[in-house]
Amino acid sequence: MRPVTPVGIVAAKLESLVQQLAQIESPNPTFKAELQQAYELANGLDPYLDLCTTPESPALAALVKRTQTEDWTQRFSDGATLKPLEQEMLSGHVEGQFLQFLIHLTKARRILEIGMFTGYSALAMAEALPVDGEVVACEVDAYAAAFAQKCFDESTAGSKISVRVAPALETMQQLAAAGEAFDLVFIDADKGGYLAYLDLLLTTTLLAPGGSICVDNTLMQGHPYLPGVSTENGDAISKFNQAVCEDTRVEQVLLPLRDGITLIRRV
Ligand SMILES: C[S@@+](CC[C@H](N)C(=O)[O-])C[C@H]1O[C@@H](n2cnc3c(N)ncnc32)[C@H](O)[C@@H]1O
Repeated sequence: MRPVTPVGIVAAKLESLVQQLAQIESPNPTFKAELQQAYELANGLDPYLDLCTTPESPALAALVKRTQTEDWTQRFSDGATLKPLEQEMLSGHVEGQFLQFLIHLTKARRILEIGMFTGYSALAMAEALPVDGEVVACEVDAYAAAFAQKCFDESTAGSKISVRVAPALETMQQLAAAGEAFDLVFIDADKGGYLAYLDLLLTTTLLAPGGSICVDNTLMQGHPYLPGVSTENGDAISKFNQAVCEDTRVEQVLLPLRDGITLIRRV
């Protein structure tokens, strides 16, 4: 799998430097040892986090396997984004366990997910909910939605998830018009849409009093803080992060988990 997190990218770059150094005759031994240690520090982090985190359920493990064996290069998003889907989009074990912990801590019962893909985070969150809890999951790509639904149907917690296939903003507007409220909102869709999602959450009933928002990919592979780097997603996240910092309606913390997670609450 291609590295998609700042630490994964650092590890890959250090590995390349270790390999380049191996081609050099009689390199400085201290430099060589320190480079090797820097590589091991970066490369060992994610496996160690996996090792020290409660294992995922068999249903989540099956969903990962199915997502990894799908040929996503053949599939393209057919909605607003027109972006190809790829297995690296799946949040995964440690982030899933983090979301489950967040649900236990906040006692959330109703969850809104914006950007479901093959359903890993939706199913992880559903597993942590009480029997009468609900995840409303928004996904613009009909193929991904059907793929996820199949996994939900084969799991025990999947019946707590209702999938809405449409651009998330449309679904959110419908939910807001119906006066719906959610204790936890997980934003993990098109990065250019993040600000509009946040604004709708804060100006309608959608975020329940005392509710929390969890936003994924707010480090965007380091692009927002790398000097001289400009990418579509990096620029969108950079704008989003700055707007959140300047928004007096909220408090937030950006955690360096995977590709960055920002937790936001209304003040
Ligand atoms: C990063 S993936 C979500 C990963 C998922 N949360 C997980 O943990 O496995 C982003 C998903 O958002 C979807 N998406 C993109 N733009 C969207 C939009 N405007 N409305 C709804 N879903 C959208 C994409 O089709 C893709 O499946």
